[in-house]
Amino acid sequence: MATVMSDAPTESQPTAALDPAKGHETIVVLDFGSQFTMLIARRVRELNTYCELLPFDAPGECISGLDVRGIILSGGPSSVYDEGAPLAPQWVWDSGLPVLGICYGMQLMAHQLGGEVVPGTEREYGPAWISRSAPCPLLDGLDDDIDVWMSHGDRLSKIPPGFASFASSGNSPHAVMVDPKRQYYGIQFHPEVVHTPRGKEILKNFVQGICRSEGTWTAGNFIDESIAAIRAQVGSGRVICGLSGGVDSAVAAALVHRAIGDQLTCIFVDNGLLRLGEAVQVVETFTRNMHINLVHVEAEDQFLSQLAEVTNPETKRVRIGNTFIRIFEEEARAIEDANFLCQGTLYPDVIESASHGAGSVKIKTHHNVGGLPPDMKLGLVEPLRYLFKDEVRRIGEALGLPEEMVWRHPFPGPGLAIRVIGEVTKEKLDMLRLADRIVMDEIAAAGLYRDLWQSFAVLTDTKSVGVMGDFRTYGYAVVVRAVVADDAMTADWARLPHDLLAKISNRIVNEVHGINRVVYDITSKPPGTIEWE
Ligand code: XMP
Repeated sequence: MATVMSDAPTESQPTAALDPAKGHETIVVLDFGSQFTMLIARRVRELNTYCELLPFDAPGECISGLDVRGIILSGGPSSVYDEGAPLAPQWVWDSGLPVLGICYGMQLMAHQLGGEVVPGTEREYGPAWISRSAPCPLLDGLDDDIDVWMSHGDRLSKIPPGFASFASSGNSPHAVMVDPKRQYYGIQFHPEVVHTPRGKEILKNFVQGICRSEGTWTAGNFIDESIAAIRAQVGSGRVICGLSGGVDSAVAAALVHRAIGDQLTCIFVDNGLLRLGEAVQVVETFTRNMHINLVHVEAEDQFLSQLAEVTNPETKRVRIGNTFIRIFEEEARAIEDANFLCQGTLYPDVIESASHGAGSVKIKTHHNVGGLPPDMKLGLVEPLRYLFKDEVRRIGEALGLPEEMVWRHPFPGPGLAIRVIGEVTKEKLDMLRLADRIVMDEIAAAGLYRDLWQSFAVLTDTKSVGVMGDFRTYGYAVVVRAVVADDAMTADWARLPHDLLAKISNRIVNEVHGINRVVYDITSKPPGTIEWE
């Protein structure tokens, strides 16, 4: 299994990854290229069943040794009649396991098993509803009319032998088809997206009802098993871990510390580009509360001197990344007997690296230490490499990390340097930190923090005229950015209440010297990006 994810270890840095799939009931999702494939895996895991994503052409050996209970064929952009259209490998049909085909997954199921798919005259895209014509275990507990979300051009004109049709929609005579004997299910819609309101129940019917998975994939189990695996991997060795202040590295470090205690040393490079009070919180949490060995490097000056007069966002990123690696390497070398490096790599990073066909796992830029020299020969400890962000948060909570750390919004590696437009100076960073804190505090006070994917302030390099009391002011404009998203690929600007925006604006202009104007960013992604640089 692991080899398909292209996590081939390099000679100098052997990766001994934990393998949580072993011993757990598993649902395998074959990826045919839909933008929602990862969402299917997340939904299955929300049911406490481990879910593994594999490329559509993964060889059958991938699942040997695993307790696979069922297979899901994802959607995808292809048509079964395209030249070289991806098809399910024969081992899927030979496995004797229940199979659920979603959208394109259903069409290829029909195509490969003797049914007929024809190009639709009209593309069915967006909200739709299906009518159930007979009881079916996949739709157990649902009404006869079900709101769904469709995204397909081709449709089934004839279902394969052994199947029966259980529901239709305006454009699809066969919106749900089932072969009860072989336990094959095909659905034309996407149950994994929020726009199919009862989609979670449909997936639950498949995973728990049809595949009979009881759900043993829980935070508690994961922690216990990870601890055992980390101990087995590390033995009496010494592990170093870079802390960024973010959730992933914090949870990875806490987990490794739970396993091996003082054999772990964390290195926190404070680049001076963090939010107000963040550096103090990292130090407090890890030293005072958790008693973890921590090397705290105060490197603000080094980062700021590298950023002097730099205005190009990509140059900022490169300079920050290089400075980080240089400092981290120096500190890591000082820990003489270190033989492992702990990283907070997550499942989406692993999948992304694999699906881009890279020969080895690409590591996230900046703080995730892409550039330690090979002569350091460090083995990788990546206890979160099979987890999604929401699972990491649950583990963090179970490990007793502070709530504000566990639920912190994602924060870019280059930090506030890419939220100060143009040249970065200490003065501007301090101004931004105060404005940003007001945004955070007011959003939290309104109870909206967890509803948002990210929220923050951006300091522009535009100055405008204002009036305060009897005085003319000439100060910077600050942008407030708040977005909702499932992941960072797309995002919508958050419809924050006007009263909240008014309060934020009022407080920033009154409390942050040098800022006299606040604007709210109402651009979604695409076409905008979440960050301004
Ligand atoms: P954009 O601005 O591209 O951001 O919509 C998508 C997500 O990525 C974060 N981001 C970064 N994270 N290094 C990082 O570690 C970076 O250089 C970087 N740039 C953007 C951003 O905060 C959002 O979550």
